[in-house]
Amino acid sequence: MLDINKEIAKLNWNKEPRGLYEPIEYTLASGGKRLRPHLAIIAAEAVINGGLINSMDDVLPAALALEVFHNFTLMHDDVMDRATVRRGQETVHVKWNDNTAILSGDQMLIEAYKLLAQVPAPKLPQVLNWFNEMATGVCEGQQLDVDFEHMSQVGIDEYMKMIELKTSVLIAYAMRIGGYLAGAAPVQQEALYQYGLHIGLAFQIQDDILDVYGDPKTFGKAIGGDICANKKTALLITALEKADPETKAELLQWLMSSDQNEKKIAAVTDIYNRIGVRAECEVIMEQHTALALAQLDKLPQNDATESLRELAERLANRKS
Ligand code: IPE
Ligand code: IPE
Ligand code: MG
Ligand code: MG
Ligand code: MG
Repeated sequence: MLDINKEIAKLNWNKEPRGLYEPIEYTLASGGKRLRPHLAIIAAEAVINGGLINSMDDVLPAALALEVFHNFTLMHDDVMDRATVRRGQETVHVKWNDNTAILSGDQMLIEAYKLLAQVPAPKLPQVLNWFNEMATGVCEGQQLDVDFEHMSQVGIDEYMKMIELKTSVLIAYAMRIGGYLAGAAPVQQEALYQYGLHIGLAFQIQDDILDVYGDPKTFGKAIGGDICANKKTALLITALEKADPETKAELLQWLMSSDQNEKKIAAVTDIYNRIGVRAECEVIMEQHTALALAQLDKLPQNDATESLRELAERLANRKS
């Protein structure tokens, strides 16, 4: 299996001005799960019947482009969310400043497209269209995420649409692009895409859960950031739906307060515990994991589809 970290380490950031490239190097060297390139490669392996594809060279540039793009979105997301820690280290806007995170992030987006341009020419137009559709989806989802911070009533359907855009489409297109580059038939491409879409939804709900219940050492991010920012997470939306009138009033009171962060995190977490929202959210995650798994029946049954099966289950139980 191709070592994604090794391939990412081969990218050269030893360029001037250092102020532009050093934060890119810092971010890409900070690790992370490398989920999206990993998925693109397994999707490719799944459709060529489990054998290692002849030329990984055909999939690698797109896989790297997806990871660089993902890291770009994180750099800007941390500015938008005022997040101080990622992957256990200071975020770029904290270690440097906002302007650095904006401009190095912009350059990463360009670097992602430079990698994408290396996709074999006959397949490039289609891959470029999908990549663009994905990138627009992420921006639309991020805008909804920010809009929702200032709204007190957000329904679960609106939330699901928002996370589909900000998180799932990238995972879904990683699957589709990987499969397409390995010659997947259209029905296989669709199954790969739908698998990605559903694990993506479960993945973001789990991210929301870990933001409250995770261990900062393994999760690598500060706990309670979503509560402080009034993010309309799966937990908060479920809590507002399930709370009795008194508890709901208490929760809405906390949503209006923008100071006393530590106290707010503790109080809102306590409300979540009292209502039992975590278990409710886990049920939704399980439903999407099951929908993802069902897609795998439409693909060849081999080692790669078996890893996709394990991965869907593992992601739902992840701690990082
Ligand atoms: C973080 O993605 C952003 C979300 C969509 C929740 P990951 O959890 O995949 O981040 P890394 O790359 O592993 O750090
Ligand atoms: C992730 O949303 C979506 C994107 C980065 C596009 P979050 O804001 O929840 O991601 P984390 O928790 O900061 O990684
Ligand atoms: Mg964030
Ligand atoms: Mg965010
Ligand atoms: Mg999050």
